[in-house]
Amino acid sequence: MTLPTSTSDSDLGLVHGSATAVEAPATPTPFDRLPHLTLGKVSIGFPVVQAALSGYSDGPMRIVARRHGASYSLCEVMLDQFLITLKDRKRTSHFLHLTDEEHPVGGQLMGAEPEQFALGARKLVEAGFDVIDINFGCPVRKVLGRCRGGFHLSQPKVALEIVRRTRDTVPAEIPVTVKMRRGIDDSAESRDKFFEILDGAFDAGVAGITVHGRTVEQRYVGPSRWEFLTEVKRHVGSKRILGSGDLFTAADCLEMLRRTGIDGVTVARGAIGNPWIFAQARALAAGRPLPEPPTLHVQRELLREHFRLAEGTYGERRAAVLMRKFGIKYAALHPEYETVRAAYGSVLGRDDWNRLLDLHYGEDRPGVHPDPHRHRSAGEGSGEGESCD
Ligand SMILES: Cc1cc2nc3c(=O)[nH]c(=O)nc-3n(C[C@H](O)[C@H](O)[C@H](O)COP(=O)(O)O)c2cc1C
Repeated sequence: MTLPTSTSDSDLGLVHGSATAVEAPATPTPFDRLPHLTLGKVSIGFPVVQAALSGYSDGPMRIVARRHGASYSLCEVMLDQFLITLKDRKRTSHFLHLTDEEHPVGGQLMGAEPEQFALGARKLVEAGFDVIDINFGCPVRKVLGRCRGGFHLSQPKVALEIVRRTRDTVPAEIPVTVKMRRGIDDSAESRDKFFEILDGAFDAGVAGITVHGRTVEQRYVGPSRWEFLTEVKRHVGSKRILGSGDLFTAADCLEMLRRTGIDGVTVARGAIGNPWIFAQARALAAGRPLPEPPTLHVQRELLREHFRLAEGTYGERRAAVLMRKFGIKYAALHPEYETVRAAYGSVLGRDDWNRLLDLHYGEDRPGVHPDPHRHRSAGEGSGEGESCD
């Protein structure tokens, strides 16, 4: 079910705001008027977007997500110092390379010092990112130890200085946004600091804040607290809040929007190896039934395309290494998950990839919806918990 390159809401039969319904839902649902998401002057559209995912949300993944209905996507987090010293080297130039079909796309920054942050933000603006997102959520020990990411939730003054400097540096027409966890831990002090940063950031002019309903201490263990998102949205009124945490199916995305009243949701682990989640969310929002999972031939077509995009970005060898971990995630949509998952582990190049596709995706059979438990366990002890957020 590859969607047209330009996935406008009308292409996808989406009904929202005052737009005319392309295909009226037979039975109106609570979602038939999902508001169009905007961030400052940037129009996003359908409020289910692709989250920032370190090690995953590179150009190829973002393009694949956009072609499958994501209205916006975020690049993997980049360190301010990395950006400042970045030379146009082959190995790293892809970080700042954007293609026309990706827009609107957000660039995300992480760092310790307010001045460095502003310099890093300038690089993202020069590269053409449409939104600059500040990371106050990463729970990785090494990152916290260097006073970056989630560490800033413990020091509102520095955090707000970072926001102000970044906002001052970035041209007014480019929105600055923030990504936060709901606190460092469950203490009352941590909660107060969260709200101090939230309010201060909006006062400093940010266009929206994404809240992941887990604490930094919690990393990926236990659920994301959606009730906290409800509370945050009530607190800020009409200001933009996006939610994160435990969005593994299209229904989860709509349920988070419905339950919490927030303005948008950012799909993270649930989109790795399952870009169809975006089109599925659009279908549900338009009152249509959940589409069948993609058949093996539809999956094969996308797996070929994703590899081609990765190869164009990294060259064959690096693409093969990277695509192994994507393949393992894509395997969750295959009826023989265990076998196919194992097969991806030995891919060394394009020929291996194509052989695997011929062997396991050669016969066109129905696919399966991924088991949400598989996503949940990833991030909780598989090494992904060590990823940034
Ligand atoms: C592998 C991995 C990498 C991540 N990288 C980033 C990142 O670079 N920036 C960020 O803001 N969040 C990052 N996150 C956090 C996700 O965006 C999201 O907030 C989190 O996974 C919770 O959503 P989920 O439970 O639906 O996966 C990452 C998460 C994972 C699992």
